[in-house]
Amino acid sequence: IVSASNPNTPEGFLIIAHRGASGHEPENTMAAFEEAERLGSDFIEFDVQLSKDKELVVIHDDTVDRTTDHQGAVDDYTLDELENMDAPAGKSSSHAEKEETGTDKDEDGTGKDKEKDKEPEKDKEEEKEKIVSLEEVLDRFAGKMAMLIEIKDSKLYPGIEEQVAQVIRSYEKRLAAAGLGGHKSIVDLAERKNSMGIVIQSYDFESTRLMHNLLPNVPIAALVHEDKHPLPDATLDALTSFSAYIHYPKELLDKQTVERIHERGRKVIAWTIQNDEDMVKMKKLGVDGVITDYPG
Ligand code: G3P
Ligand code: CA
Repeated sequence: IVSASNPNTPEGFLIIAHRGASGHEPENTMAAFEEAERLGSDFIEFDVQLSKDKELVVIHDDTVDRTTDHQGAVDDYTLDELENMDAPAGKSSSHAEKEETGTDKDEDGTGKDKEKDKEPEKDKEEEKEKIVSLEEVLDRFAGKMAMLIEIKDSKLYPGIEEQVAQVIRSYEKRLAAAGLGGHKSIVDLAERKNSMGIVIQSYDFESTRLMHNLLPNVPIAALVHEDKHPLPDATLDALTSFSAYIHYPKELLDKQTVERIHERGRKVIAWTIQNDEDMVKMKKLGVDGVITDYPG
């Protein structure tokens, strides 16, 4: 297993930028993704929903209230309308989480003054970020960054899986035509090769199974919600039959859970790791990577 894009990451241990480097820039925006790239993340993670005109847009909530200067359901707006909203700094959960957890004591929650984590000087007036489409993100980072795409609210958007699959199939063709897609396989499912550097995740296990059927060469990550823990053996057996990764909230992870997943030959990724203390805990548990707002 080789880290997708970051030669400095310990082999096999993945650093995944949660909604981009959302501890530093507005979540799920190009600024957050570019900052994640600058900080050497292995993956950018982001969330997709559907607009009124059935376009795949990158936003975490099913409303625009928390992260933009507008209000209402995402699918009450067209892609064009969504792209013209401002997604200002300070309106993201990452910033709210910092206040809740107290990790804003220092810049990155680690207690260290890391030079590479320093934000570049910018004119604050120019910091207004925009909602972007899935295709824009794919095109911007084609061949440069691996991407962990979370399908949100599959029940709210029937057919979203097929739409994501179509966009990814088309992306794969563009990558091949451009001679890109040189990511090493990031998953040890020997029979599957994924040179796109894409992993798809969801809390909805039916949705992940469907994605696996639609895109059998794309690794799947099952996100475990707290109400599903602990996973019975039968559920874990079923999940690990098609999921390369099991993504777990850090609060629920223990040695036994990590071992149960490893015994089935799959990787464990913990979220959301915001400081050194949690990082050390996760390393001791033997997880294979972390999802963090502070990838630096
Ligand atoms: O990747 C884990 C994480 O993204 C799941 O939680 O709410 O941030 O999408 P959430
Ligand atoms: Ca997510």
